[in-house]
Amino acid sequence: MKFAVTGKGGTGKTTVAGVLAHCFNSDGYRVLAVDADPDANLGSALGVPPEEAASIIPISARRELIKDRTGADPARFGQMFKLNPTVDDIPEKYSIDFRGIKLLVLGAIQKGGGGCACAENVLVQSLLSEIVLNRDEVVIVDMEAGIEHLGRATLEAIDKMLIVVEPGMRSITTATTIMRLAGEIGITSFGIIGNKIRDAGQSEWIGTRLPAAEVIGMIPYSETILSADRDQRPLFDELDESLKAEFLKIYEACRPQNA
Ligand SMILES: Nc1ncnc2c1ncn2[C@@H]1O[C@H](COP(=O)(O)OP(=O)(O)O)[C@@H](O)[C@H]1O
Ligand SMILES: [Mg+2]
Repeated sequence: MKFAVTGKGGTGKTTVAGVLAHCFNSDGYRVLAVDADPDANLGSALGVPPEEAASIIPISARRELIKDRTGADPARFGQMFKLNPTVDDIPEKYSIDFRGIKLLVLGAIQKGGGGCACAENVLVQSLLSEIVLNRDEVVIVDMEAGIEHLGRATLEAIDKMLIVVEPGMRSITTATTIMRLAGEIGITSFGIIGNKIRDAGQSEWIGTRLPAAEVIGMIPYSETILSADRDQRPLFDELDESLKAEFLKIYEACRPQNA
């Protein structure tokens, strides 16, 4: 199963991606968590100790690797490079392991097509595409806001697009745009997750503005989530009963149903 976690910035994508990775992992699945946000913080949400998380060098910043795989030095302009670099060994070699969860930090991904055609972007795009097309574990990609920078083949290989929203019109608008763009390329499986919900009225409000049938969970606004973030501890270890129940619901909606 391949998941992408999307939505407006600050809605809770990384928080959800981190807990979901732990849910699959603790249930016995092999998990590859992919940080595809240039402002990388999935490691921290998983609970990777801060010093270790800070020491991870994103793939897009690994100059030697980029040079080796694409034939072009990212620090120099105007060079020829391979458009289909070898990438299938990269997840094993460059991910870190946290309690059995593999974490791979990609770094910035620029828009394909007319955008930047630089060597590091070719490497990162090829790698992400290889991961969602060919890996056989559960893959959870924590995204930057928006999905426009991903290639079509990459998006098509996503089994479920998770969209995190908070009770505010701007995050609803972003979610609607994502669903339209994803729908245009044939993605039909969505999971909308309301987050930072303070009362029943707010979850109802979300349900009236987005397709209610696609809503798979409503996570309350929670001091526990904030304090785990503040103190850089694994949130998964600290979920109280109501949070646990809500994340379990989300996990059940994501888990392969025949397993
Ligand atoms: N349910 C929640 N209650 C309170 N704070 C939350 C909740 N979910 C996320 N947060 C906080 O909101 C901020 C943004 O969350 P994050 O997961 O980093 O969002 P994103 O990845 O979408 O930018 C973080 O400080 C996080 O701790
Ligand atoms: Mg994030």
